[in-house]
Formats: sequence, C-alpha cells, structure tokens
Amino acid sequence: EIRKQAEAILGRMTLEEKAGQMTQYDWGFNPINPDTGLSQREVIADQIEQGLVGSVFNLSGAKESDELQRLVLDKTANGIPLLIGRDIIHGYRTVFPIPLAQASAWNPELAGKTAAASSREGLADGVAWVFAPMIDVTRDPRWGRIAESIGEDPYLASAYAEAWVEGAQTDDGPGSAAASCPKHFAAYGLAEAGRDYNTVDLSDRMLREVILPPFRKAVESGALSIMASFNEINGIPACANRYLLTTILREEWGFEGVVVSDYGALQELIVHGIAANEEEACLLSILAGTDMDMSSGIYVRYLPKLVREGKVPESLVDESVLRILALKIKLGLFERPFVKSREYATDVALPEAHVALARQSGRESIVLLRNERQTLPLRKDVASIAVVGPLAGSTKDPLGCWSFDGRPDDVVSVLEGVRHAVASSTTLHIAQGCEVNSDADSEEGIAEAVAAIAKADVVVLALGEAFDMSGEARCRTDLDLPGNQRKLAEAAAKLGKPVVALLLSGRPLAIPWLADYADAIIQAWHLGVQSGHAIADVLFGDYNPSGRLTATFPRNVGQVPIYYYRKKTGRPPGGVYTSYYIDSTTEPLYPFGYGLSYTTMQYGTIRLAGATIGRQEDLDVSVEVSNVGNRSGEEVVQVYIRDEAASVTQPLKKLVAFRKIRLNAGETQTVFFRIPSSSLAIIDAEMKVTVEPGTFTLWVGPNSSEGESVRFSVEGPADVSVG
Ligand code: IFM
Repeated sequence: EIRKQAEAILGRMTLEEKAGQMTQYDWGFNPINPDTGLSQREVIADQIEQGLVGSVFNLSGAKESDELQRLVLDKTANGIPLLIGRDIIHGYRTVFPIPLAQASAWNPELAGKTAAASSREGLADGVAWVFAPMIDVTRDPRWGRIAESIGEDPYLASAYAEAWVEGAQTDDGPGSAAASCPKHFAAYGLAEAGRDYNTVDLSDRMLREVILPPFRKAVESGALSIMASFNEINGIPACANRYLLTTILREEWGFEGVVVSDYGALQELIVHGIAANEEEACLLSILAGTDMDMSSGIYVRYLPKLVREGKVPESLVDESVLRILALKIKLGLFERPFVKSREYATDVALPEAHVALARQSGRESIVLLRNERQTLPLRKDVASIAVVGPLAGSTKDPLGCWSFDGRPDDVVSVLEGVRHAVASSTTLHIAQGCEVNSDADSEEGIAEAVAAIAKADVVVLALGEAFDMSGEARCRTDLDLPGNQRKLAEAAAKLGKPVVALLLSGRPLAIPWLADYADAIIQAWHLGVQSGHAIADVLFGDYNPSGRLTATFPRNVGQVPIYYYRKKTGRPPGGVYTSYYIDSTTEPLYPFGYGLSYTTMQYGTIRLAGATIGRQEDLDVSVEVSNVGNRSGEEVVQVYIRDEAASVTQPLKKLVAFRKIRLNAGETQTVFFRIPSSSLAIIDAEMKVTVEPGTFTLWVGPNSSEGESVRFSVEGPADVSVG
C-alpha cells in the first residue's frame, strides 16, 4: 500500500525532483556567499520552492518548521513534505543523561522511555527524524564520542539499540510519529588512536562479531533509517562502501529504510582521496547505496546528469526516492505536515513527567566507584558541608555534549541539589576552587577552597570535564582530570575531612591517584537537567546507587584500548616474556560492569539445567542472589561465557545476559536466564556462524572481573549453522 502511494508520487516527479528528494540541508548553518551576497538559507529556500530538497535539519522550532512545510505545499507541484531532522541524542528541551551514562543504568527499557520523551518534544517542534541512537561500539575513552555511545560491549549496545529505536520511533498518529536513525554505520568508534574521523582498518571478523550486532538489532527492531559513518573502513569510506551499505545492510539484513550520509561525507570522498571530483563522489555514493546526501548538495547537482549519461541507472535513483517517500508516508507527513501538538514544544515549560524521568534516569546512571569506611551516604542533618570544585555550581556542563535544545536555566546544579536535600540546619561552605581547565600549576582559588573546607564536616568535591570536552571532535590524549583539579583534590584531602569526589565527565577518566585523596568516588557523568537532584539522591541515600560501568576505566592512557572482551593471547600477562607492560599493570582501574552499592549482595551457587547441552539447545541458568545488607537496593546480575577451545580464538569473557533486580534488605531472589544457543556461537574460519562442541565456562556475578563460574559442555552433530 505504502509502496503504491510512493510509486504514484514518483511517477509525477522529474529527474531533478528525484535528486532533490535525496538531498538534505543544514538550515542552521547560514553563511553569506560573498560572490552572490545571498545567505545559505535564501539559497535553500529557493531550492525548496523548486521541489529540489527532501529534508532539512537544525531548524529552530515549530514556527520555522511550519513555515518551510508551507513553502513546499504552496510552491511545489508535488507538495512533498520535508523530513525535518535533528540530533536529539539525549533529550530535546528536557536533557537526559548522556548515552554513556544511561548505559551505566543497565536499563534499556528506561532509555527507551527517555528516547520516547525526547521524540515527543522534538515532534512538537516539527522534528520527525531523530539522528539517534548512537550505537558505535567503542573501546577508546580518548575518543570524544564515547560520551554518546553505549560503551564497549556489543551485547549491551544491542539491547540499548532495540529499546532506543522502539522508544525514539514513538508513533502518536500522523504528524506525531518519528523515525530513528541509528548511527554511525559502521566502525566509527574504532577510529585509530581515538582521534575522531580517523582511519579504521578492521577484520571482517571484528566487524561482524563486535561492530555490527547493535546495528543488526536496530534493523530487526524496525529502525526506519541508518546513518553511514564518516570514516573509511578498510580503505573505503562508509558512504561509498557498497559492501557495507548494500551487501550487508540490504542483501544480508533486508533493510528497507533510508540510508543517509553523515554531514558533508560525500564531499569528503574527495578529501579521502577516493573521488577525483564531486561527480565521482556522487557516482560512488549512489552505487554504494547511499540514499540521501547530508548537506553537500552533490546529489542534486550531479545525479540527473549521471543518469542522463547512462552512468547511473534511473532505477537506482527511483529505489532511493521510493524509500524516502515511503518514510514520509509512514510518518504521516502527507496527512499532517504541520506541527500537531504544542504541548511539548521548546517554548513551553519542561513537561513534569519528563523531568521526573530525567531524575530517575540520572540516579540510575550514577556509578559508585569507591566508598571507604561507609563514607556514603551522608547524613542530611550534618552540621556543615563544603561544596567545592569547578563543576559544583555549573548549570551548563551537566547538559553534556549535543544538547543544543537544552537550557542551563533548566539545570539543577550539584550545589542546588545538595542545598535542596539537606536539613535547614546544615550550613554549606561554597568555593569553586579552580576552573575546569586552568593552568595545571595554577594556585588560584585553591586557598579559598581550603578555607571553605576547613569550616566543614565533610567535603563534596565536584570535579570533571566541561560539557564541550566530549562529543564530536572532542578527543583527548590525556585522560586525567584536566587543569589543576588534582591540586585541588590534594589540598582538600590534606585537611583530614571525609572527601567525596564527584566525577562529572563525558568519558572514563584515568585517575588512579584519586583514591589517595577521596574516601568516596562517584562517577556522575553529565546527567542533564536533573543532575543536582539525582546526585543528591545518591549522596544522601534517597537512592541506593545501582549503576555499573559499560566502558572500562584505564589506569593510564598507555593501556588504551582496554576492554574486558579481550583475547587471551598465547602469553597472558604474568611476568617476563608475557603480554604485559614493564611500567604498568594490565589490569584496569575499574572493570566493565563494575559499580558499588550501599548494601551487600551475595551470589549463591550457579545452577544449570544440565551440564551438557546440544548444539542447538538453549542453556537454562539460575542463581540465587541475596541482599545481606540492611538497605534495599538493585543489583545488575551479569552472565558471561567463554568457549574454552574453539576453531577460532575467542574472548576471555563475553557478556551474554544480564538482569537488573531489586531486593529488599534480607531478601533472596532466584534469577533465571535462558541463554539462546546463538549466544554460544562463534564465527568460524569460513565466516560461518556456528556452535562448536566443547567445553564452556560460564560466570554469573556483579561485574566482568568477579563472580562464580561453572563449566558445561556442548555436544552434538557436526556442522550446525545457527544463521
Ligand atoms: O548526526 C550528526 C552526526 O552524528 C555527526 N555529524 C553531524 C550529524 C548531523 O548533525
């Protein structure tokens, strides 16, 4: 039905209009052309009137979006509504925690809710296309975009991909339905040396085992579009990579949605050195399978010519246009091109339900890294607290990267959160101490901070990174706290008061020294509008922290890339002539899956339904988990496996299941897992997905480094492929 409607529209379109549908422009970027004196927007508007634009992004609200749709309807012959896009990465006006933080909640369902809330707010401003989720598996905290990712593990990223796609593609009827755009396809997170846009060279095995699973899950979950990445993969940049965009995505996975390039990526084919000019860039991209050109204008300029010259079959262009039209039809844009509801628009106050969701998501994202002598939770009626540090009063930084629709005025700072939580009798002593990134030797502000701390019973030290130190093109070679924050922490510790360090950062930091100065360390990320309240909930025990890391914390930059899903090697670390460093341990500072709680959970014996299973059988596992502390809390029960001897080397551990459970003090729960046989599969030497007979080890535990283990075997007929 949709296809028929799309074909009917296609039948009325000229070749130029078809190329126009495959063209997207950035409305937010508006330079004046010195030669013509025209602004970029004037040029785009003119092109829109001629029916030569399919999509725009970076509009500033409902009024602008309605005006542009009106232009299309009034001026163009076919009246094809524009698809309006936006980077809604972790919230629109209501900014939620950065994705890496939301991942730490190990609660995909909750992330699905933040994605749905974000789409609703965007839709109220006419945004029907959300450039999210970002599901690039990455193992390099130097890379600034780790903040936007789910972290290092393909299984967890797949679980989030599913929930995020479903949530973001909220559908409240025509004109109130959004499309997600999982990105960046593919392997963008493996940029060499953690430097954005850098070369990626990886094996097909790595691609298929680690990088592709979240994308495949996104496709299976109904993602309506996908964004090709900027990077080259084994010599071919993504938007010109036919193997990725056609062989894998379309032919193997049957993806029917729209593939959009990243920003100016067609133009960059020339810079990569794979196309001699724009025309060649156009040819490579269309032949590879890129349906829409983001912001370079190359398709609209060259596609008609290439078709007329017989270099590009018109049928290829038609297929792309049909996909784009089908997407617009599915979203109900033809029925309701104009903004339907004002309820969530950016110029309306933050919706209460979304604020509550931001607080819940914020508290669940927080990871307690250290808590010596039960420093935490703090008493709310403590006589005095020093709230110190460059991020204590900030309302801008907690918004994190990619939050251009958020407003600092909406943000609850750490200081406000603490002030709101404590008893009226508690005195707060406040000092900034230093800037986020001042000169490393600077003493400025430290004396003032020390004076504030001297008057207090306990110190809350808000350290970390500014909002713009992570995100696109925000890579670092140093993973320590920036500026002179270490100096501040040292000075604070000298006074002998209990020190609680908060780390508000967009990435894992290498801060092994901090444990010498801080009794408690809380990884508090950039948590969005409710940052201060969420942090105070944890500080004062209104919420028992349950977050677990999804990206390994290194001890130093030299260990990077460091991740739990690593291979054993022939010489595992353990002395001279083994795979080790002479100047550092190979162990991380905090491993994947790690996080503390205010209560103590105990794991019982792992039970398997049988010690032997067939090659196509699922594995049933159960374990009793008891809360033996005196506070209720949540536990993320994690299941890992290892294939002990396979025809191709396997990772030491691989996450195959997890469940977040809540246990009251003294309560015991039996947690069941059914591990599908596909989780035991490997990709063999012929690249066939198969479960091989042999011995496996299975762990159930609180993180990737701890937990009880059992062994089981897989038996069965030879050559069983699991697809
Ligand atoms: O969606 C983004 C992408 O993640 C990075 N480049 C720009 C795009 C549009 O803003």
